[in-house]
Amino acid sequence: MYLSEKGLEVEAAGTGAEGLAAYHKYHPQVIILDIRLPDISGLDILKRIMETDHNAKVIMITAYHDMETTIEAMRQGAYDYIHKPIDVDELDHAVTKSLHIADKVHAIPHLLQDDQESGVRHQIVGKTPAMRALFKTIGLVSRNRATILVEGETGTGKELIARVIHESSLFNDQPYVTVDCTTLVDNLFESELFGYERGAFTGATETKKGRLELAGEGTILFDEVGDLPLAMQAKLLRFLEYREFIRVGGTKTILSPARIIAATNCNLGDLAARGQFRQDLLFRLRVIAISVPPLRERLDDLPELVRFFLHKINRDLGATVTQVEDRAYAVLRDHSWPGNVRELKNVLIKSVLESRGSVLLADALKTVLAASSGDQPPVTGSASLDDLEKSHILKTMAETKGNLSAAARLLRISRPTLRKRLKLYGLNHPDPRNA
Ligand SMILES: Nc1ncnc2c1ncn2[C@@H]1O[C@H](COP(=O)(O)OP(=O)(O)OP(=O)(O)O)[C@@H](O)[C@H]1O
Ligand SMILES: [Mg+2]
Repeated sequence: MYLSEKGLEVEAAGTGAEGLAAYHKYHPQVIILDIRLPDISGLDILKRIMETDHNAKVIMITAYHDMETTIEAMRQGAYDYIHKPIDVDELDHAVTKSLHIADKVHAIPHLLQDDQESGVRHQIVGKTPAMRALFKTIGLVSRNRATILVEGETGTGKELIARVIHESSLFNDQPYVTVDCTTLVDNLFESELFGYERGAFTGATETKKGRLELAGEGTILFDEVGDLPLAMQAKLLRFLEYREFIRVGGTKTILSPARIIAATNCNLGDLAARGQFRQDLLFRLRVIAISVPPLRERLDDLPELVRFFLHKINRDLGATVTQVEDRAYAVLRDHSWPGNVRELKNVLIKSVLESRGSVLLADALKTVLAASSGDQPPVTGSASLDDLEKSHILKTMAETKGNLSAAARLLRISRPTLRKRLKLYGLNHPDPRNA
């Protein structure tokens, strides 16, 4: 009714079969398709439509707005995705956009029919709008090889996202390789990344392939890319520009078609502004930007995350916690989660071990949260005192929502001292009004 009133010609179908018949009869400019139909799955219909016309504009509608259906629908070429209950503005927006879009859309023919049943192995849990938008992006990028930058605080799931991107891509049968940029000390960069020929240097007793070569036509993740020293940023940039490299001590130029994903918990824009990260490299990496929201900004995901982790914990630790005390959610919502989802997972493991029966108690959570408040965010590996101080200051600033006075009080230092520390660690004060 709404679209008709707008002056569009609308044909409605009650079943999948009717819909397909109508599609072939009318060749509509836009198809609005429910996933759950009485006869055929909407995903199957989508597939058939895309086989007939891979430029078809199909907007999927479903009540099952979970990660897998969204990714699957986008991967199969759905133009957009809208969830129930239908928001007319959202629908209107999607329809208008699809009508205006230039006809030249290059959808890659769908190659993955046989993979449909297996689904994705890693699961990103989340239902909040921000997470749904993220799933949509993952679905869209699964159809190409564009370079992606994943930004987000520690423990928000950047590595997990990189994996899911690979697993849902058209080349998910190719290798997935990770490079931890924090460990790439100077002379290791090239030999690790590009490999080396036998005799290239002392100790090079045989030819070794580098990570890029190992990644082949798959995906390579540059984790913690913000930690890459400037000298190596230049080398990475050179590679990104030409997409080719030479093994150390070698002569042959090797092309790398691998998809590049970079992840970081730093704000690269800020680092670039301070001259610690190359602007041109940032530009090359941020072809597609995925920004993962911190857990405190999507507290509505808590119940599902808790269910997901409890299931895992029961399975892995042989625990039998199947219920959650109502009050427990209030406790979880009250926490600021500086360590994000990783922290939640750890807190749940400890709390389950604390609980005796089959119910996760609010008190158990409180005990664990109180005990661990001193060591968040979790620091991986050994950290310097400065790192600990920096992360503690960050955490306090987050807790006080950036209020300088309150943070200084909690840290028992003066405001000028706090400001000096923030500056020293290059932590721009988030809200100048408080300064
Ligand atoms: N949305 C999510 N659903 C399910 N599990 C998640 C989610 N987000 C994070 N996790 C889990 O939390 C843990 C931390 O995630 P991950 O290692 O991907 O974080 P990260 O952003 O790379 O952190 P860091 O910046 O510290 O490296 C992992 O065990 C991951 O599986
Ligand atoms: Mg990580």
